[in-house]
Amino acid sequence: MSDLGRKDQTIRAWGVYVSEDAAAEVGRALDAVWLNTGSQERLFRETFSQRFNIPYCVATCNGTASLRASLAMLKVGPGDEVISTPMTFLATNTAILEQGATVVFADIRSDDLNIDPASVREMITPRTKAIICVHYGGNPCDMDELWAIGREQELPVIEDCAHALGSAYKDQDVGSRGDIACFSFQAVKIITCGDGGMITTPREDYYKKLKKYVWYGVDREGRPPAVDGLPEDIDVLGFKYNMNDITATLALAGLRHVDIPLARRQVIGKRYRDELRDCRKIRIMKYYADRRPNYQLFPVCVDDRTSFSEWMWAQGIQVVVNNRRSDRYSIMGGLRDLPVTERADREVILLPIHCQLSDDDQARVIEAVLEYDRT
Ligand SMILES: Cc1ncc(COP(=O)(O)O)c(C=O)c1O
Repeated sequence: MSDLGRKDQTIRAWGVYVSEDAAAEVGRALDAVWLNTGSQERLFRETFSQRFNIPYCVATCNGTASLRASLAMLKVGPGDEVISTPMTFLATNTAILEQGATVVFADIRSDDLNIDPASVREMITPRTKAIICVHYGGNPCDMDELWAIGREQELPVIEDCAHALGSAYKDQDVGSRGDIACFSFQAVKIITCGDGGMITTPREDYYKKLKKYVWYGVDREGRPPAVDGLPEDIDVLGFKYNMNDITATLALAGLRHVDIPLARRQVIGKRYRDELRDCRKIRIMKYYADRRPNYQLFPVCVDDRTSFSEWMWAQGIQVVVNNRRSDRYSIMGGLRDLPVTERADREVILLPIHCQLSDDDQARVIEAVLEYDRT
């Protein structure tokens, strides 16, 4: 057994993937005369657009900013409702609150932990202004159903793709279709630049507006070359959400090597699915044949999550509860009656999955899970 497989070494829940050439690239970027949003940010957007077949890309400073700018562009504000999932990181839903709107929680599906389109339908009111879904753990939502609701009700669907870079729905990269998608390049994501984000859309009209919302209401690229550098008028209250060239350089390095973490996660994810499929106490998620998950996370459900986590941690294996249901926080207005969410909030826990997890490490994780399952 290699050193990495030694039982006295902790297997971490999280890992960071930064390509070997990233430091040198950033060093070069620091030598440049321009550090703010410039040529590298533009190149990052163009390369992202080509790699994931996305018509229009707007780079931002993080995923939360991407969500908020999208909501602002759609004119979501006080008095409006946005239907969203409680099974997510806080940011999906704080972005709605930041806009002064109300979060209406739909329930999730027990098989993949994604928002349940049937529940979304039940939550629609005349005040509904948008729907947000999250491809939880990188396992794509039932987009045909959600887009159908969006079309019928004339509601935009925002895909929170923070977990889903490189995932595909019906052979198409997430973020390449639909209305709007928001990505995150935060530390543990498949591409990281510390903090960064991207808004993608196939709609030119959205793109033109979004560009303004990420920089003070001004389209930086469309600015006239003038002495004061700003247009005659600014008619949109935008944010300071742009991505700078240092961040973009790091993100570009990640993007150029993105097939490395994507491929490694496929191997780890498939092995967990193969070797844990017959467990009785640990239930793995459903992965639909018409979708390609990127395995950003590997969630499992366990009846007695406490005893399972104590067992794993005692063997130096970090399993973690990543997200609690959003509606448990009082800022969200208190607990809703969501039976599937209620159970998931008690049972879901993540197994380690990242590029630092060696084959030996994963064998240790699997062995420990199977032993727990047998007892
Ligand atoms: C589902 C989801 N949405 C949004 C975000 C926010 O992204 P960021 O940290 O880049 O703001 C995260 C962050 O992890 C997330 O997991």
